[in-house]
Amino acid sequence: MSFVVAIDGPAGAGKGTITKLVGEKLGLVNIDTGATFRCVALNMLQKNVKMEEEEKIQKILDNINIEMNSDGKVFLNGEDVTHRIRENDVNNLVSPVSTLQIVRNKLLEIQRNIAKGKNVIMEGRDIGTVVFPNANVKIYLDATAEERARRRVLQNKEKGIESSYEEVLNGIKERDERDSNRKIAPLKKAEDAIYVDSTNLTIEQVVEKIIGIINDKKS
Ligand code: DC
Repeated sequence: MSFVVAIDGPAGAGKGTITKLVGEKLGLVNIDTGATFRCVALNMLQKNVKMEEEEKIQKILDNINIEMNSDGKVFLNGEDVTHRIRENDVNNLVSPVSTLQIVRNKLLEIQRNIAKGKNVIMEGRDIGTVVFPNANVKIYLDATAEERARRRVLQNKEKGIESSYEEVLNGIKERDERDSNRKIAPLKKAEDAIYVDSTNLTIEQVVEKIIGIINDKKS
């Protein structure tokens, strides 16, 4: 039997950073489900397939191979796309792509397969609600849109990218709106998820809090 920790929450709440750190400390395999949606979006860009071309998207899904290794590297059809899937063209396409039912069906199967037989910490939007409704631990990690925008601007700065706070904030609000209001698997807190607000916490404090929650559930 595998042990599953589900971490859901909006873009920029710190899921990626926190999941990685908690996974390392507790020896859980870290699975970033957003990366699987990003791989589909990238493959569409590579093949010049548009959102409305459902048959072509289905063909992509029938042939897609997505792998993640323990260093957090992501491979799309054998190619290392770890960095490529974080670029702007993918950022722009991934949110609409994630609203397509055919895409979600296929990725649900892939995500469950990746986790099979392993002790995992899996982050996304619908892990506790759809992918693993029986997860051992469910956490909903949140922060205000303003704080998430502030973090994203800092992150960009570290990467040498200058970005305007207002633009980043608007982008985050738009994405929240789309992710929360889509018909299929919208972003929402599972009833039995524990709500963690990271707005006024440091990374270390969030990690400590989540490890505490996991250890409580284990005992
Ligand atoms: O976490 P991220 O920014 O890499 O996610 C990219 C997109 O994929 C985001 O717009 C929402 C979507 N997504 C989803 O719908 N369900 C998930 N489990 C993970 C991500």
